[in-house]
Amino acid sequence: MENINKLLMKKAIEATKFSYVPYSEFTVGAALLGKNGIIYTGCNIENASYTPTNCAERTAIFKAVSEGITEFSKIAVVGGPKRNLLEQCPPCGVCRQVIAEFADKDFELILGDSEENFVVYNFFEEVLPLSFTKKDLKK
Ligand code: THU
Repeated sequence: MENINKLLMKKAIEATKFSYVPYSEFTVGAALLGKNGIIYTGCNIENASYTPTNCAERTAIFKAVSEGITEFSKIAVVGGPKRNLLEQCPPCGVCRQVIAEFADKDFELILGDSEENFVVYNFFEEVLPLSFTKKDLKK
């Protein structure tokens, strides 16, 4: 279990290599673990019109969902300016909402800057406690 977290950190860092960031120069990488055992990676992809920019987390999630995979156990996220990784690069609000759509109560968010230095958070308890999800629509 410890090793999978290290592997996700490694894959997230590797994914920043493909960040398309001509405007911010802020590279972000994500590595999402499907319950099928497959890791889906993503990078941020910017646009001259700015608002179409897609964050790394959503790139990874949308890649998986577009292949029919909707159940996940954890995601590692790394990022920082000019290829210098911050100690932690927390997901933006939009990405938290997209993660919430596909996360269950045990889903974990891993934030760090290397395979050795990272923190594991329970997503719904520690990152998005007062969430609006499909459970609310069913009320
Ligand atoms: N970014 C992400 O990829 N994920 C986040 O959760 C926060 C922000 C990207 C978007 C943009 O390309 C750059 O970081 C600066 O905001």
